[in-house]
Amino acid sequence: SKRISIAIDGPAAAGKSTIAKMVAKNLNYTYIDTGAMYRCVAYYAWLNHVDVQDEQAVSKLLKDIDIDMFPDGTIQLNHEDVTSAIRENEVSMGASVVSQYQAVRTFLVEKQREMAQGGGVILDGRDIGTVVLKDAELKIYQVASIECRALRRHKENLQRGIESDLEAIQKEIAMRDEQDMTRLISPLKKADDAIEIDTSDMSLEEVVAKVMQLVEQRI
Ligand code: C5P
Repeated sequence: SKRISIAIDGPAAAGKSTIAKMVAKNLNYTYIDTGAMYRCVAYYAWLNHVDVQDEQAVSKLLKDIDIDMFPDGTIQLNHEDVTSAIRENEVSMGASVVSQYQAVRTFLVEKQREMAQGGGVILDGRDIGTVVLKDAELKIYQVASIECRALRRHKENLQRGIESDLEAIQKEIAMRDEQDMTRLISPLKKADDAIEIDTSDMSLEEVVAKVMQLVEQRI
């Protein structure tokens, strides 16, 4: 069967990466977490004491950024493991800020297209169906209510033994979505040909089954 390209976009903490990983495993496809790449840029700025609000300074850093993503989910920034460091709350907001800059997007989108060459890939992010892989055979727009997303993230944190405040999480997610949906370049939105899945009242298994069914129709 054909090895297609799958795009999953949607707001923060909608469970995109969880679903993408499970579907990739089922199909033996490569999963590419594009949000992690924006996080790496924000984290690198922080490491170098560069203000993420300073577009020029952030853009200048790009030539020194080398991101490697491994099949086991490990992410290296200039050959250092940053897998958990880039998950910090401050890095999330920083990523949302630097993702507004044209130079940052051009730099990362090029990398993403390179990695996606040849198909057999599943990418998740905000602009995969609208910009990065406009010709993807399957585009999913994965959503869930804000309460639902915040609660899932909260439970995830507690399970990982990370301190967590439900109200703060909900605020952070709402702020990030607002910023991502209203930016000028490649804002978060559903591609015209994307299929929307509201996962608020669905189990993981149900969402995976739904996506697998859509894949089967296309391979
Ligand atoms: O997906 P994740 O929450 O890790 O993404 C972090 C931030 O990176 C998002 O809030 C968004 O601002 C940015 N992003 C983006 N385009 C993508 C993926 C992520 O602008 N394709």
